[in-house]
Amino acid sequence: EKIVLAYSGGLDTSVILKWLKETYDAEIIAFTADIGQKEELDGLEAKALATGASKVYIDDLREEFAKDFIFPMFQSGALYEGQYLLGTSIARPLIAKRMVEIARAEGATAIAHGATGKGNDQVRFELAAATLAPEIKVIAPWRLSEFRDRFPGRAQMIAYAEANGIPVTASAAKPYSMDRNLLHISYESGVLEDPWFDAAAPENKDMYLLSVSPEDAPDQPEYLELEFEQGNCVALNGERLNPLAVMEKLNELGGKHGIGRVDMVENRFVGMKSRGVYETPGGTILFTAHRKMESLTMDREVMNLRDSLITRYSTLVYNGFWFAPERLAVQALVTESQRNVTGTVRVKLYKGNIIAAGVKSPVSLYNPDIATMEEDPTQAYDQGDATGFIHLNALRLKVSSGVEQNKSK
Ligand code: ARG
Ligand code: SIN
Repeated sequence: EKIVLAYSGGLDTSVILKWLKETYDAEIIAFTADIGQKEELDGLEAKALATGASKVYIDDLREEFAKDFIFPMFQSGALYEGQYLLGTSIARPLIAKRMVEIARAEGATAIAHGATGKGNDQVRFELAAATLAPEIKVIAPWRLSEFRDRFPGRAQMIAYAEANGIPVTASAAKPYSMDRNLLHISYESGVLEDPWFDAAAPENKDMYLLSVSPEDAPDQPEYLELEFEQGNCVALNGERLNPLAVMEKLNELGGKHGIGRVDMVENRFVGMKSRGVYETPGGTILFTAHRKMESLTMDREVMNLRDSLITRYSTLVYNGFWFAPERLAVQALVTESQRNVTGTVRVKLYKGNIIAAGVKSPVSLYNPDIATMEEDPTQAYDQGDATGFIHLNALRLKVSSGVEQNKSK
């Protein structure tokens, strides 16, 4: 039997690798998606082999992640519960997609992951896998009582790792858990479980890896021009870049200026509230600039319609329905809504802020001749028409307030 394990090299998936191999007497194929975790990938292949993997896949999926996952999601304006840019949520379906491809190519019967039974990630992995490869079994050790009985706490995992020659890395000692990719780092659990714990306090600043704190950011602001074509950012400061390079450059600039930190309590799909801290430097710039591009170029009713779907879209991504038919249907509308979201946005980056500094477009819907308070050379708008417009809109308000007044007599 062969099992493909989503492997990160951290303590949990290392222990799981060994445990699966022993428990199922199976060949374990370790799979790591490179979606921008940087240093976390160093030495990973050797480590997986040393831990007992028969084969290791470390696949660079960064371009696909940026182009086919991050960018389409940003066209939608997705933001979960008003704050979270969905950095982990959007990565899971891609990891699952590649994992089932490998499972099929290797003739594996099962895939396994290290997500706990209390979180969102298990749902995202498994709904994606179910959609793409319904025949493949899923093993989630954290949901198995045999596994939980054997590893009731971190101490038992560390002991098992040491006994099996699995190196316990520094990140296993951190008092919180992290998930890093091209879009963000999330920090959860451990010391962060207390929502009164101040993650922004100066003494806790070592936690953050992608950004400086706003108070440590440069005193000099920095201007940035983002060029959009049909809702996608295609150039920065006049230089054409692919989606991956856009994200990398935006992360660097956002991180330098302390942009994109969020600390929130969110609602997990499985029903509990959870405290999360996020750094999304590049994504935050992209999100803000994209909205500004839309303000100039998007029709009012198209915008209203698209905006009415933001909560829906965000929840679909958060809950793991990326490959579901309803997400694809909403995406088609979102993508259509972006047909004229083209032009250039200029922003000023300064101590955690993204300040508007201009917007222009060859397909702008903003017409200064129509909007002007001076004489309108186009004669497109007759102020006298507004009288009838207001009268007709007022009619039902007058009727209903008349009814209310009669009631109180
Ligand atoms: N709460 C965030 C989400 O559900 C982040 C999850 C982080 N996952 C992790 N395995 N550390 O999208
Ligand atoms: C986990 O529980 O494995 C991480 C957090 C989450 O999935 O929400």
